[in-house]
Amino acid sequence: MEIKVNVGDPLKEPSPTLVVGCFEQEPAAPLVGELDQALGGCLSALYREGEFTGKLNKSALLHTLGRAAAERLLLVGLGKRGELSRERLRQAAGTAMQALRGAGLKSACSVLHLAAGGGEEWLRAAVEGHLLGAYSFDRYKTGSDNNGGVAEVTILVPAESDLAAAERLAGEGRTLCEGVILARDLVAQPANVATPAFLAEKALEVAGRYGIDCRVMEREEMERNGMEALLAVAKGSSQPPRLIILEYRGGGEKERPTVLVGKGITFDSGGISLKPREGMEKMKNDMAGGAAVLGAVTVAARLRLPVNLVGLVPAAENLPGGRAYKPGDLVTAMAGKTVEIVNTDAEGRLVLCDALHYAQRYRPAALIDIATLTGACVVALGSFATGVMGNDQGLVRALKRAGEESGERLWELPLWDEYGELMRSDIADLKNAGGPSAGTISAGWFLKQFAGKGKWAHLDIAGTAWEEKGRPYLPKGATGVGVRLLVEYLRGVADSGKSA
Ligand code: BES
Ligand code: MN
Ligand code: ZN
Repeated sequence: MEIKVNVGDPLKEPSPTLVVGCFEQEPAAPLVGELDQALGGCLSALYREGEFTGKLNKSALLHTLGRAAAERLLLVGLGKRGELSRERLRQAAGTAMQALRGAGLKSACSVLHLAAGGGEEWLRAAVEGHLLGAYSFDRYKTGSDNNGGVAEVTILVPAESDLAAAERLAGEGRTLCEGVILARDLVAQPANVATPAFLAEKALEVAGRYGIDCRVMEREEMERNGMEALLAVAKGSSQPPRLIILEYRGGGEKERPTVLVGKGITFDSGGISLKPREGMEKMKNDMAGGAAVLGAVTVAARLRLPVNLVGLVPAAENLPGGRAYKPGDLVTAMAGKTVEIVNTDAEGRLVLCDALHYAQRYRPAALIDIATLTGACVVALGSFATGVMGNDQGLVRALKRAGEESGERLWELPLWDEYGELMRSDIADLKNAGGPSAGTISAGWFLKQFAGKGKWAHLDIAGTAWEEKGRPYLPKGATGVGVRLLVEYLRGVADSGKSA
């Protein structure tokens, strides 16, 4: 979908549909009251009869029959004025897209940001909601099933003097959302298409386009590096593993980089510790962390953020083939630690531990990994928060702030030493899976052993990477979670001149 910006008076600008934000119980609010008058009291009647009352994410579509410059009005509820937030505006903009799509409308003008006062952060939120809400993955729908969605939304700004800033914000919003959509598309791709090699090709292609350095490590080099943990996971599949290495230099020459590591399991069957059949198809989303890293690095480079950034995506497929690694196997990770495999379904931490160790060569200012790591995180936080753990409160705090700003919220879990007891092995330095309790934390604790002495944080997106029902700007399916969060975090790094 295209997003455009235009100068225009919402009451006078002709358009097929004008999207207007409405507060709860405020039929006489500035623009709304004027439109109500033009339409002979039609809007206030809706409020009075309780058919549309401005409740958050409710909408009403009506024809103006020549009484306003727009042919139709799409009223979108913003909830109570005092409770408005950027997240609510993002949602309202997403709701507008669902309503437009449902009505088969192809283009609209939007003044949602004006209801909030029109400031920059509101405009940015509206742009994000419109672009992300319009998303659908219909690559593989042939024929009439694929009727396309909304083609274009024009954001109206009242004055010529607002135009330059609004265009810049819309441009940035477009770049950001393209990063999210890149991640969503990769996650949505079926696993027989999106193999480790495919991810690597995609990374090379995108990197080439935006001036990012990209190198792909293959099996032989992993063997030379002693990356036995990553290699073990890949053994059961005929698809060879890849380690994707992205480098973007936007900061000072001596500045230590932020290193992002994303889990890239292109399909997680569980391996020999096979998963149950129900819902296994969703395990194509097990590379959502890797996709988020690719999306975030791309956006950072396109926005020319003044930061140094490295993205690492260890990519492999976890299958129970004849050469597969088995429960009871022992692997020596690149860091030199020995790991007893007790569950081949705890594969994410294995590919990540070698990537985290590899990351040490960059002497990261901050090391952040992102992964669909544990089903326990879905149990603990559901789909409304990403789990965060780390060894540095400053970094965790900065990430949480970025979560609030971006609408991708985080909730911290403790990483106390005591949890290490869950991971003790009789024959090795540690085992790869604990028992049924504290599954998200024990996974985080495992990663901590490989994260080095610098600042490190781990994001568990198992519950947030895939949306089951569909929300206003998160259509059913891949959410692209992490891209907006990480870009917001990097903006903070750019502003403060240092990580965390
Ligand atoms: N990819 C899964 C975690 C997951 C589950 C992501 C549900 C998204 C939705 C991960 O590799 C896994 O299987 N984890 C195991 C760990 C256990 C064996 C210690 C789990 O959570 O059951
Ligand atoms: Mn698994
Ligand atoms: Zn997994």
